[in-house]
Amino acid sequence: MDFKFENKKIMLTETILRDAHQSQAATRMRIDEMLPVLEQLDDIGYYSIEAWGGATFDSCLRFLNEDPWERLRTLKSHLKTPIQMLLRGQNLLGYRHYADDVVEKFVAKSVENGVGVVRVFDALNDPRNLEVSMKAIKKYGGICEATICYTSAVVDGKEIFTDEYFVKLGKQLEEMGADNICLKDMANLLLPLRAYELVKALKANLKPTTKLHLHTHNTTGTGDMMYLMAIMAGVDIVDTALSPLGNGTSQPATEPLVATLKDTPYDTGIDINKLLPIVKHFKTVEKRLKDDKILTEKSKGIDVNTLLYQVPGGMLSNLINQLEKAGKIDKLTDCLAEVPNVRRDCGYPPLVTPSSQIVGTQAVMNIVMNERYKMVTKETKDLFAGKYGSLPMPINEDVAKKVLAGAERITCRPADLLEPEYEAIKQKVIDLGYYEKEEDVLSYAVFEQVAENFFKWRDAQKKGVDKDLAKSGVYPV
Ligand code: CO
Repeated sequence: MDFKFENKKIMLTETILRDAHQSQAATRMRIDEMLPVLEQLDDIGYYSIEAWGGATFDSCLRFLNEDPWERLRTLKSHLKTPIQMLLRGQNLLGYRHYADDVVEKFVAKSVENGVGVVRVFDALNDPRNLEVSMKAIKKYGGICEATICYTSAVVDGKEIFTDEYFVKLGKQLEEMGADNICLKDMANLLLPLRAYELVKALKANLKPTTKLHLHTHNTTGTGDMMYLMAIMAGVDIVDTALSPLGNGTSQPATEPLVATLKDTPYDTGIDINKLLPIVKHFKTVEKRLKDDKILTEKSKGIDVNTLLYQVPGGMLSNLINQLEKAGKIDKLTDCLAEVPNVRRDCGYPPLVTPSSQIVGTQAVMNIVMNERYKMVTKETKDLFAGKYGSLPMPINEDVAKKVLAGAERITCRPADLLEPEYEAIKQKVIDLGYYEKEEDVLSYAVFEQVAENFFKWRDAQKKGVDKDLAKSGVYPV
């Protein structure tokens, strides 16, 4: 490895307003806990501030009695630094494929209300699932950051997700119009020296104008080392979170990286002194989240199980839950050994929502039933049938036959099978009496029942129902 120091200012994306509290505190930070420091955050010189999308939308409607669109407009009124959001491609912020007209409208309204950088990803790395949202991001003037989900699988002693796999995908996303490429290590499996190689390969093959943006979590404690190696390999932007909600299951902390790079060729240009009052503020937020038992010590420490079992932390706890419920916790080791087999059979999907749940649940069924694929979930069937998109590697045809049992298989882009649905949803929101603005239609399109509960609460507020009463659960909130 050749450690050549280039003169290159490293840019940071601050995630404390989105992924940090999503990862450590079930996405429960409220807008009033953000407002006091927005101007100060704006003054730091971040590349972007991730503050919207991901689970924040759901959490606003479901738990916080906040209109997510209102939150976005409020953030925008205090921030000139680009606001970044996370979008799950054709799934938007929900859990199914939405029709193209809903996807386009959602992106249009996100950008119009203040999102500057849209990071868009697909769990299977199927670029067709990103097509419509990427086009819309460009059309409505957002910065289009298309994502490569990092994954790994060793077959016969060899890594099958090679540099070539990732470079090919990166170039394809570039051709589709990506301004930035995000390398997303959602499961914290990308280790420092592998990151060095991979970032080198991507930077050597992507256009010089394409920014490479790296995302990880620090669950296994390898995140800071990984960032440093990636920086030495030429990465342009990395995601960090201010220390009160940094590290552990969240991103590596902002301040140590700023200090590490100061007065080096990679200086971020960020004045660490300016961060201190913001850190102080978020310590009080951290305390509130701890007092409310939302944030626990568990999310703060180092947990190397992910590295041992090569499965994301969330997937591991799901497996344990399912087995405990079935009274079969003694089968955990067998199930963990079955995970790579199921993953191989269904074409090596990256293990991220929803594929991590599908593969995990199927592994449990295979072990508990004592026969592989004797029982299959609807989701397993759909995955084999191509309904989530195409898998990175060929699927096992013998298993596919057994799983599908004659059911139809598709090879087209899954959303090609969906009729436009925006107008019908809009009419429904109007008929229900909840329509105030176009954005309400989008909230309802993605989170139907949860959005309806929020609209009911909103109406009750207008009629002057006592706020505490509404919060007491008289209205489903
Ligand atoms: Co993340």
